[in-house]
Amino acid sequence: MRKYIVAGNWKMNGTLADTQKLASEVVNMHKDEVNNGVEVVMIPPYIGITEVQRLAKGSEVKVGSQNCHKEDSGAYTGEISAPILASYGVDYVIIGHSERREYQSEDNTLLAQKVGQAHRHHLTPIYCVGETLEEREENRHFEVIEQQISEGLFHLSTDNIQRTVIAYEPVWAIGTGKTASKDEAQEIHSLIRDLIARRYSQHIADEISILYGGSVKPNNAAELFSMPDIDGGLIGGASLNSRDFIDICKAVK
Ligand code: 13P
Repeated sequence: MRKYIVAGNWKMNGTLADTQKLASEVVNMHKDEVNNGVEVVMIPPYIGITEVQRLAKGSEVKVGSQNCHKEDSGAYTGEISAPILASYGVDYVIIGHSERREYQSEDNTLLAQKVGQAHRHHLTPIYCVGETLEEREENRHFEVIEQQISEGLFHLSTDNIQRTVIAYEPVWAIGTGKTASKDEAQEIHSLIRDLIARRYSQHIADEISILYGGSVKPNNAAELFSMPDIDGGLIGGASLNSRDFIDICKAVK
């Protein structure tokens, strides 16, 4: 069944004290205020994962990781693997965030392996796609998204594609305060659903959650989430403020 999800990607933010404050506020406010069935996920830096899990214990709030390696284990200093994350009870893993595509040179071929790894270890991947400003201005955004989706995901079995979450995050909207309009976002979300329908089936495409990310705030979330193919959000900056993050969760109808 298509699930509505709001996930907070904390990126490289959160001292121990910040993590404890933010996670406990989110868990408490979630319990008191969020009753619309949306799945809420907190995604701190790796080292904060167990602390966030401890604070979220007994609540419905899920915990994710911002990345995983393509191998199970080995001599990869500074990396983290899917089986390690799974052994800690992590639920979700972001794969292919544009910041990793850009700063760690992660390409679709590598990301396809990471998505496979996540599935092998029963983590739910949140696979990110999105065009740069230059690509949009050159009118290449459809082509870029199609390539990211087909190269990153189309090796998956029908079972695994159904267990994959996709996030559309236009690079020009991340951290810029510039959000895609609801129609611009809907256009790409519907393209993504269409690509899945053509490769797999309409039924499978209808079941997949496609999140929007890029400057989502409490004052624009409801409008974005009202679109037929937008099934929640991947939130950066606003997920670091518990009030804003919970208000975004509540904007899902
Ligand atoms: P902002 O919400 O800060 O634009 O970040 C979006 C994002 O990159 C989430 O993964």
